Amino acid sequence: SGTTETSEARAEFVVVANRLPVDLERGADGTQRWTQSPGGLVSALEPFLRSRKGAWVGWPGVPDVEVEEFTDDGLVLHPVTLTSTDVRDYYEGFSNATLWPLYHDVVARPIFDRSWWEAYVRVNRRFAEASAAVAGEGATVWVQDYQLQLVPTMLRELRPDLRIGFFLHIPFPPVELFMQMPWRAEIVRGLIGADLVGFHRPGGAQNFLWLARQLIGLEPSRGSVGVRSRPGMVQVGDRTVRVGAFPISIDAAGLDALSRTKEVAERAAQVRSDLGDPRTILLGVDRLDYTKGIDLRLQAFHELLQEGRVKPEEVTFVQLATPSRERVEHYQQMRSEIEQMVGRINGEFARVGHPVVHYLHQSVNRKELAAFFSAADVMVVTPLRDGMNLVCKEYVACRHDLGGALVLSEFAGAAAELSSAFLVNPHDLDGVKNALEQAITLDPAEGRRRMRALRRQVLTHDVDRWARSFLEALGSETAA
Ligand code: ADP
Ligand code: F6P
Repeated sequence: SGTTETSEARAEFVVVANRLPVDLERGADGTQRWTQSPGGLVSALEPFLRSRKGAWVGWPGVPDVEVEEFTDDGLVLHPVTLTSTDVRDYYEGFSNATLWPLYHDVVARPIFDRSWWEAYVRVNRRFAEASAAVAGEGATVWVQDYQLQLVPTMLRELRPDLRIGFFLHIPFPPVELFMQMPWRAEIVRGLIGADLVGFHRPGGAQNFLWLARQLIGLEPSRGSVGVRSRPGMVQVGDRTVRVGAFPISIDAAGLDALSRTKEVAERAAQVRSDLGDPRTILLGVDRLDYTKGIDLRLQAFHELLQEGRVKPEEVTFVQLATPSRERVEHYQQMRSEIEQMVGRINGEFARVGHPVVHYLHQSVNRKELAAFFSAADVMVVTPLRDGMNLVCKEYVACRHDLGGALVLSEFAGAAAELSSAFLVNPHDLDGVKNALEQAITLDPAEGRRRMRALRRQVLTHDVDRWARSFLEALGSETAA
């Protein structure tokens, strides 16, 4: 979209995240363009922040570029430069090969490396300094996610006048796992600089409160933390830090409206016919990440075909997988495993012109995604662990026709809200197979009943409600 350079006054409301909402893409011929950044954080925050004309501090997604601040549709973007070494040690290293696996239940082994930690400290300081320069007197600064856990305290030291919130978009792990972290006390101290520390689930908040006591000797409140209510409290000198649970969501009304457009409906019909009009379309949509359980769902599908419980001429599986963190070893391994499985399943069950699994290692735009959601009879979301998972909520928001069925892992944060889905334990392959079979053979009236209940939840708990409840608890917004 049309971007212009600017020299804005300092901002009243600032979001700080590892990535800007747009990524810089550089073509081989030296041309540049901005595209939407991957992942749930941007999907959730971008529509919200645009509506309030705030500022966003983040990395433009490529190493070694210096980009001036610019405005994009009313949103002021402040790029933070990361060198190739920063990207390797802070982003691919500490963020995505230490914190990411540790916080996702150690589904892969976290690597603890001192030089990565040093890079994490250095880059967090750079983000804190950039935020301090952008924020106006008494402004609200909302720091996002696991890449920036030291920013709250660093920023408070630079700018005690600010109101600082922090939200973690991924799970906060059980304390037994968190205790593996060699720099565990430093991380808790980094977060405690915020006025409000938010998690998706009360369990994460509770874990954090326990660690604040054990690791840095604070005395947190003891009552149980509620959802959007009853935050825990910790006294840190003369400050009271709140610790609460705020399940994130999506722009549900926007997606609902998009899915009702003629364009999307026509494209959905086209997708269906391009796939050869199968009786049932199964769909997976994820970043290609080993936490998402893409391999598990393919294995379940493969076994259902082998056992004759699913007929290859009736059922087609579509997997859209956005490329992600491609230089990190676990991601490379997972990609080759998934691609081998797709090849194997098609090798055994495809006919000429009719693959049983369609695998796209690509990102698609919002309209195209809405069309896939509208066309899919069964949405398959099977992470081993996921902070929330927005994809399942997006699917529900697109099913104004009350069609479709959702198979959802119990280990996604969203499972607590979407109890009318077919909930599965992704470690229990037979359970996943049974749920897929049930969803494929679902009685339409029962399907509508379930989808109505799912939609009631998603449409009334949208991203705006999430952001408002967080900002109210932070005290920077009064209740509507
Ligand atoms: P995460 O933040 O771990 O990536 P979420 O499910 O919370 O997981 O959010 C993923 C976001 O990325 C969603 O908004 C989803 O629609 C989008 N997305 C995932 N895969 C694709 C794809 N292949 N093409 C386009 N968008 C995608
Ligand atoms: O919360 C999940 C998350 O890691 C976000 O922080 C991030 O922006 C998104 O997924 C995509 O990952 P990445 O920025 O590493 O491509």
